[in-house]
Amino acid sequence: MFQHLSRLNPDAILGLMAKYRADGSTRKVDLGVGVFRDLSGNTPILDCVRRAEQRVLADQTTKSYVSPAGREEFNAGVAELVLGDSHRVHRERRARTVQAPGGCGALRVGAELIRIAAPAATVHVSDPTWGNHIPLLGSSGLRLERYPYYDPVTHELKFGDMLERLDEATPGDVVLVHACCHNPSGADLSVCQWRSLIELLERRRLVPFLDLAYQGFGDDLISDVAGVRLVAEALPEVLIATSYSKNLGLYRERVGALIVISENESRADAVRSQILQIARSIYSMPPDHGAAIAACIFADPALRDSWLRELAAMRERIRGMRTLLADELRSATRDDSFDFIRSQRGMFSLLGVSAAVVERLRERHHIYMTSDSRMNLAGVLPANAGYVAAAIAAELAAAPVAA
Ligand SMILES: Cc1ncc(COP(=O)(O)O)c(C=O)c1O
Repeated sequence: MFQHLSRLNPDAILGLMAKYRADGSTRKVDLGVGVFRDLSGNTPILDCVRRAEQRVLADQTTKSYVSPAGREEFNAGVAELVLGDSHRVHRERRARTVQAPGGCGALRVGAELIRIAAPAATVHVSDPTWGNHIPLLGSSGLRLERYPYYDPVTHELKFGDMLERLDEATPGDVVLVHACCHNPSGADLSVCQWRSLIELLERRRLVPFLDLAYQGFGDDLISDVAGVRLVAEALPEVLIATSYSKNLGLYRERVGALIVISENESRADAVRSQILQIARSIYSMPPDHGAAIAACIFADPALRDSWLRELAAMRERIRGMRTLLADELRSATRDDSFDFIRSQRGMFSLLGVSAAVVERLRERHHIYMTSDSRMNLAGVLPANAGYVAAAIAAELAAAPVAA
């Protein structure tokens, strides 16, 4: 049965992690893996998570099944966090939220739902986008196309080109948009650009699928969903995939949810029943532990306050490293071409150098980033920022800047 299966190369990021672990240099710097790190280089367990987890364990009386929809109090908390408690879609009972195994699970369930509802639809994804979007959505059998989004050489959004391309999409197609903290570019739409995009989506009858994996990593929990709330206000049908891997640091617990907004209440019920059927046929039920922790934090005012403070600290740490690295690059290269790093948002930016330069940074300087030159700014520390900047300047002096 298996004789004709060939051995596959490891996933690019997992392969990079393995190379980093095997590197014996004391100078090595990991800008590759997409996890938050604190000033000591750790990916911490948040204090609010520790406290909520103790409570969950103390109160738990059974390990019996929950349900394909997951925990209802978690789902209610997610809907409030993403859309607010007085959003029109709540009053009109048009939103349904179903817990999923992480943001990846939510994206995949969303893709399966689209495939059942509109098998001929194309999903338009940004160029560039997070590498895993392609297999996650494509494996459901949907056709994918890319729309221009960001130029890694000029470090600017290609918003005009994006609108032009989406204007040619077929009515009923789906447009995947990063809700905030775009991965890998760190370049987000302004509120004004969200409004122009919404006008196009309405006019061309396109369905937005919003990927919200970094709520709270940009400005704050509410500002980061400004675009999401505008989209949900204006459009009859919207899918939103959320993740609590980053903003609650619950990576390995696999906590996420899919929110689907439909045209009216009865369609919303029909959509929910389809989502539950999809969940049942893939993994039956999502894991409960992380969602129980998240639900406890969402509902308890003291834990929620603690979360907001810890989230602000993570955000400030990344912002601080953006400023530090941009300053160090200014002095190492004696020009301001890397100032864009300072103003972009979230964990990632694209350095905008060729794969050959990325390779030399790894081989000669033990600095690890993905071949598209995506850097995780949370991998930068006060102790290594000068070293990273000097290495980049040295390699650029030897090679032209070109992505
Ligand atoms: C853009 C984006 N979407 C979704 C996810 C999924 O996150 P998870 O499945 O870990 O919750 C990630 C994780 O890195 C991401 O960067």
